Amino acid sequence: MCGIVGFVGNRPCSGLLLEGLSRLEYRGYDSAGIGLLGPDGLVIRRAVGRVAALASLVPESEHTVGLGHTRWATHGGLEVRNAHPHCDRTGRIAVVHNGIIDNADALRARLDPTGAAFISDTDTEVIAHLIAQAYTGDPMAALQQAIGHLQGTWGLVVAFADHPGRLFVARYGSPLVLGFGDDEVFVASDAQAIARWVDQVVHLEDGDQLEIRQGMFASIACRAVPFHAAEEADMGVHRCFMVKEILEQPRVLTNALVGRVSDRGVQLACLVDHPSMRDVSSVVLLACGTSFHAASVGARLIERVAHIPAVAKLASEFSTDGPMVDPRALYIAVSQSGETYDTLEALRRAKGCGAATLGVVNTVDSSIAREADAGLFVHAGPEVAVASTKAFTAQIATLGALALGLAGKPESGVAVAVRKSLMALPDAVESTLERLRDSAAVTMACRWIVDANYALFLGRGPSRHVAEEGSLKLKELSYVPCDAYAAGEMKHGPIAMLKKGTPVVVVVPRDEHRTHMLANIAEVRARGARVIALCEPDDVEVARHADLVLPFDSTHSCLSPVLSVLPMQFLAFRAAELLGLDVDKPRNLAKSVTVA
Ligand code: AGP
Repeated sequence: MCGIVGFVGNRPCSGLLLEGLSRLEYRGYDSAGIGLLGPDGLVIRRAVGRVAALASLVPESEHTVGLGHTRWATHGGLEVRNAHPHCDRTGRIAVVHNGIIDNADALRARLDPTGAAFISDTDTEVIAHLIAQAYTGDPMAALQQAIGHLQGTWGLVVAFADHPGRLFVARYGSPLVLGFGDDEVFVASDAQAIARWVDQVVHLEDGDQLEIRQGMFASIACRAVPFHAAEEADMGVHRCFMVKEILEQPRVLTNALVGRVSDRGVQLACLVDHPSMRDVSSVVLLACGTSFHAASVGARLIERVAHIPAVAKLASEFSTDGPMVDPRALYIAVSQSGETYDTLEALRRAKGCGAATLGVVNTVDSSIAREADAGLFVHAGPEVAVASTKAFTAQIATLGALALGLAGKPESGVAVAVRKSLMALPDAVESTLERLRDSAAVTMACRWIVDANYALFLGRGPSRHVAEEGSLKLKELSYVPCDAYAAGEMKHGPIAMLKKGTPVVVVVPRDEHRTHMLANIAEVRARGARVIALCEPDDVEVARHADLVLPFDSTHSCLSPVLSVLPMQFLAFRAAELLGLDVDKPRNLAKSVTVA
């Protein structure tokens, strides 16, 4: 998943391209590059690492046409030669690409069996060579002919030195939008990247291949939609976006629930507009990563509150040879970015089989939000840190509201209890954050985990998903190896990982799994493990058997993950800080995984 930007207009564009790329770094930040197109041909600048490293290489210039790219490496290592834009041998055709070309190796061998013509290891360079091979003076014809050889996904912007006032774009499987300003045209991977300069956008569709040039708006105006920039995310007084976003959670939860859950009950527009969604035989939630953990908690909420069979499935395992689609079921795509390739493809598969689909999404105007039959935004605001925090808790709260909505009237005892607990969540989160903000216990736990270079996370029921989320957070931020298991599975193998001093993080709310969790604590302690217990502040019984306690406030057991995840979030970012790592942009990751 990479970020692409392009510009055709009247004003110098290198600064615009760099600013657009910096807004797209959430899609990948392994390397960056821009190409400036003018009467004297193409000027290409590329750098490994962040856009800031590239900026120092870009000359002041009067070029008014250009293209740019920030990369998440799919083919080829983190070297300048693999950074985009990629050119053909003449250097007169430049390409930036988001996506994966599945048949790149075969095309590369066909283009040049010796391989001598290629400078990079990327699939994208193959596209540049294909276009050059087909080019006889008509750029669009050459692009279309080259695309005819491709298998896979692409969002492409192409520049031809022979045609200085124009760019050429093509979309298949990877998002591209056109933005229109005053006699100038932008192209980008998403509208937020160009929000500062445009008020109308066109979302390109799969199969679109077109030339962009000044004055083209009239030819595509029928597809333009107004566009409103999302609120600007800034770090404020915080040392990183992740800390800011963790501390925003009380307000985020209030925003997720306001107008939906109150003393009078639950009101969800998506169910009012689609009453048939209440009559579904079952619910299948589709998601990846942290959103999958939230979806898993949501599935339990729907079963307990609405008494509708519900299950969360990994979107990446939902391909055509995956589970059957039940057209009587409701399929819910849960996604912060709304652009995750696997989740979008899973949604499309369910929709293609005639099932009703709902998007539970944070990013307005995203592909999933646009393609689902109905939507429930989680209103978490821009989440900039790659490690998802506030979106996770907002997703659970939103799925809790949905569970209540699906349950309908009259409210059962469980529904009333969950509704009241939902409404109390912002205060409970605030209280828990206060306990954790400067906790020495969190720092001590981090030191144990970093010193051991391993941790085992255990939980039961909804807390199992918190254990999984805690392990994911720690991995993606500190790179410390760790495992997460349903605590009931521990004796079936994972306990072999324990030795004296191994940190074991256990999640123990006051729920029906508590007794078994206490037994598991005894079993791991018997093997010398150090127990880091996440439990309620006054839970002296758990505290007695733990080496460290990280507290979270109490709430309904179905909603306890919203609170018990908070210590996990602190553990992860503090461990990253201890190790001097980039908390907001960890290595190898991107905020939105828009490739399979
Ligand atoms: C979470 O910390 C990760 N950054 C990642 O697992 C993320 O949750 C996953 O890629 C799904 O993204 P989405 O919510 O935007 O679909």
